[in-house]
This record gives sequence, C-alpha cells and structure tokens, in this order.
Amino acid sequence: MEKTLIILKPDAVQRGLIGEITSRFEKKGLQIVGMKLMTIPASIAEQHYAPHKGKPFYEGLVRFMTCSPVVVLALAGKDAIVIARKMMGATFGSKAEPGTIRGDYGVSNAYNLIHGSDSPEAATKELGLFFKADELQTWKPTI
Ligand code: CMP
Repeated sequence: MEKTLIILKPDAVQRGLIGEITSRFEKKGLQIVGMKLMTIPASIAEQHYAPHKGKPFYEGLVRFMTCSPVVVLALAGKDAIVIARKMMGATFGSKAEPGTIRGDYGVSNAYNLIHGSDSPEAATKELGLFFKADELQTWKPTI
C-alpha cells in the first residue's frame, strides 16, 4: 500500500475547507492513516521546500506556509500518490481543471490550497518530516 503526504495549506484552513477537501479523499477511497493540525516551524518548511531554494517564490512560499496552521494528512492506498495529485489538479489555481480541488476552490497561483508528494521518494521524505512513526496508524475497517 502506497502512502503520500498531503498538506492542506494555510489558505485552505483559513477558508474553512478542511472538511470539504478531506472528504473528497475519503470518498475516493484513500485511507487516512495520519492527520494533525499544526503550525509548521520555519526549519521544517525550509527542509520541505529545499528543492525550490533559490527560486524567486521560495521565501514567500516559506512565509506563507508558516503563517498559520495547516492540516497534514498521511493517505494510504493503491497508487495514492498519483491519485491524490490528479484530484488536486494543476499547480496554479488559475490553470487547474474544474472538478479538481484547486480547480473548484481557488484561482490564486501562490495560495493554491494543497500540497501532495510528487514521487515515492518525496513521500517517504515528507512523511518523515511531518509525522513521527507512532503518529501513523495501520488499520482496517471492522464494522
Ligand atoms: P506545492 O505543491 O506545495 O509545491 C511547490 C510549491 O511552490 C507549489 O505548490 C506552489 O505553492 C509554489 N510555487 C510553484 N511555482 C510558483 C510560482 N511561480 N510562484 C509562486 N509559487 C509557486
């Protein structure tokens, strides 16, 4: 079972979209195996976005991601990484297709609501940055 790291960014939390967005993943059949509300420390945001260091938007991105709480989700399922990214839509709200999370809930490019790991390597690194091992659950439906 593949796992991916999703961040509902400060704009998603401030706009009251935690339930709407999380519900889409649940209905799709991706299993929530980790979930918490947190304010990201600058050092974690810098590590998370290290591949973008030096780009013109990097400092603003780190400021944005640390400005107020986010929700971090660990989702599990077959092909969870690709499925979650399809559901998120294109990076920029202005370009994202209707029917996707970014396409349905925003037009902003910088405030694009959600992050999802883009590869198995990134997912392993990002899950490790945001969750301790004992914060991830392994569970099966029983009722
Ligand atoms: P995310 O999926 O979190 O991964 C990298 C982030 O960088 C991306 O979403 C956007 O929030 C941000 N980003 C990428 N390109 C730009 C850009 N040109 N201007 C502003 N932010 C950007």
